[in-house]
Amino acid sequence: MNPTVLLLDDSKENLEILQRMLKGLPGMETIATLCFSAGEQALAWCRANEPDICVVDYNMPGMDGIEFLMEVRKLPRFKGIPMIMVTGSSESDIRQRALANGANDFLTRPVDPEEFRARLGNLLTLRMSLISPLDRVERLAHDVELLARQALEREHEQIIYKLSQISTSRDEETGNHMHRVAHISRLIAQELGHDAQFCDMIYLAAPMHDIGKVGIPDKVLLKPGKLTPEEWEVMKTHTTIGYDVLKDSSSSLLRMGADIAHSHHEKYNGQGYPLGLTGEKIPVVGRIVAVADELDALLSVRPYKQAWNFKDALEHLRHERGRHFDPDCIDVMLRHIDTILDIQKKFADEPAVPVSDMHPLRRGAA
Ligand SMILES: [Fe+2]
Ligand SMILES: [Fe+2]
Repeated sequence: MNPTVLLLDDSKENLEILQRMLKGLPGMETIATLCFSAGEQALAWCRANEPDICVVDYNMPGMDGIEFLMEVRKLPRFKGIPMIMVTGSSESDIRQRALANGANDFLTRPVDPEEFRARLGNLLTLRMSLISPLDRVERLAHDVELLARQALEREHEQIIYKLSQISTSRDEETGNHMHRVAHISRLIAQELGHDAQFCDMIYLAAPMHDIGKVGIPDKVLLKPGKLTPEEWEVMKTHTTIGYDVLKDSSSSLLRMGADIAHSHHEKYNGQGYPLGLTGEKIPVVGRIVAVADELDALLSVRPYKQAWNFKDALEHLRHERGRHFDPDCIDVMLRHIDTILDIQKKFADEPAVPVSDMHPLRRGAA
């Protein structure tokens, strides 16, 4: 049997412990584990996928374990999937509420490895025996489709990253900036409750945000100091150039890229460019990428500026909530700082620029 186990716990350490305990469970040749640190994230995954069992922590910031159970049990395919809830020993009222809302079993912290393996093994064996041959074929077809989609996405991803890199290789932005903006944009989209297809698309389309820089003359794009007002007007046209290049494509992905290129410098209060749109008149993809791009630009070293520290960058974004940025995007970002830090770490840039060469006047994303 090759079951899939979903682990949901806001503590990275707990997730690692649970993962270790799963190794070599008798009768389960290969266990695939999926770890989530937030209920909203796990729920977004569950809308398009199906594990064989879920192990859910009760105590989490944002959506707690019982709220997750209630939401996930509403999904038709999740009616028969076993759920184990992990609680503290003195939380008997929580256990009762969890039972009433779809938990099948409990584990008490600190989790005993033998007990965990026994309980999980029993529920998994039962679950696997209840999957009919027809279900197995359906699952296999689903897995094959998923693999094919992932392969296609990887191909799309490479093409888009290469194209986006051509446009930004002339200035300061790195390939890793593209990766970070893509990951942070997808995270924000997921946490705003968008479906899996939208989240996958924004992940692929976000790196195109500055593709229009390909049309900006070197003397403006590469100018080391502050831009004159005339030069700044030229710089701003990277939004419309990118939009014009991509907007008539037959691909919905490239059309999303066009919207992102066009709207990633609009501001929620209407003081952005190129159109000065306000609030929800700005395409949601532009509002999401604006936050991801600015956060990453602030945290990055550029030839003209030092990297901001994380606290100052967050403070700046918090201050711009409802001014520059969509308040909902800022709120979900602030709720998932740990995940964002992980993304920053995973796709960190090589330190390359001497601090003394930096220009103090420019900051953030262009
Ligand atoms: Fe950028
Ligand atoms: Fe830009």
